[in-house]
Amino acid sequence: MNSQPEHHGPASGCPVSHQGGGAGKAPLYGEAFAADPDRFYAYLRQFGPAGPVELAPGVDAMLVTEYAAALQVLQNPDLYAKDSRRWRALNEGRVPADSPVLPMLAYRPNCMFTDGAEHMRLRQAVTESLARLDLYQLSRHVERVGGYLIGRFSAHGQADLIGEYAKVLPFLVFNELFGCPSDVGDRLVSGMSGIFDGVDAERANAELTGALVDLVTLKRSQPGEDITSWLMQHPVQLSDEELLHQLVLLMGAGVEPQQNLIANALKLLLSEEQNSGGAGAACWSRTRSTRCCGTARPWPTTRRTTRCAMWSWAASGSRRANPS
Ligand code: HEM
Repeated sequence: MNSQPEHHGPASGCPVSHQGGGAGKAPLYGEAFAADPDRFYAYLRQFGPAGPVELAPGVDAMLVTEYAAALQVLQNPDLYAKDSRRWRALNEGRVPADSPVLPMLAYRPNCMFTDGAEHMRLRQAVTESLARLDLYQLSRHVERVGGYLIGRFSAHGQADLIGEYAKVLPFLVFNELFGCPSDVGDRLVSGMSGIFDGVDAERANAELTGALVDLVTLKRSQPGEDITSWLMQHPVQLSDEELLHQLVLLMGAGVEPQQNLIANALKLLLSEEQNSGGAGAACWSRTRSTRCCGTARPWPTTRRTTRCAMWSWAASGSRRANPS
């Protein structure tokens, strides 16, 4: 089984089935959830700071729904370890081997899934490589990519702003940051999108890995001024496997939140009702995804979370040029 079955919840009333194996657990997959996630979150909030969910069929988890509890979980790795090799249900064989969540949640040697000294070492490579980016050039590049995408649909008089803009822009920017030739970049985008969508995630993971192996091989022989080469040259001396998995993490962590941020900012901009209501925070509270806890949280939460590499980079004063 490679694709997620649809979950048809009732149109009104309690969104969660109280019969069968998943009784009482909110299914965070399928059409019913995608159509109206707020109903599921409201149901979960009845449980207090965390409620029972199913991430995919047979994959149980607790979803934190309160700000203070989220901070406590994110900032106490001693109590809430990130290393998913310690995931009991997986170790006991209770998670289906072909579950679509595994490419996203199974252990990888990257800073998201490690703790203590191992985390520090990998994180140092990520933080210091990001710090070498010139934010002025990055901003110019984002503008160029945005202009290119807008140019592709502007003549049509209409556009799917999610599919043709919000979803594509961060991927194209990351391809540039990683120093990808276009054929490798296309495979990266396709593989990473497949993992996020959870459709044939195993195949998507293989495509992503193949593209990154090619990128790493290329950069070993022809390094450039890009994140892949900087990670490679970092004194902590990442192995090829570690390098590949920091790249997966950077793209995974860096793309999905931006897609939601852009999509919600566009929604806010285009919605007269929200603009006139002054609902600045609505943009954040209406995020489309639950996969990155940061995207389902308003700004202050993510700013106070200490482990996001991007925030540390932006806050570290690494701006080498003034973008104004
Ligand atoms: C709206 C934008 C973003 C939001 C809301 C966000 C939010 C988050 C959150 C909540 C975490 C988990 C923190 C924890 O485990 O304690 C995280 C981790 C991470 N994020 Fe971000 N992020 C964003 C953008 C980015 C970007 C653009 C990048 C890469 C360029 C990035 C790279 C990372 C990395 C590498 C981690 C793992 C850090 C670690 O475990 O040490 N993020 N992010």
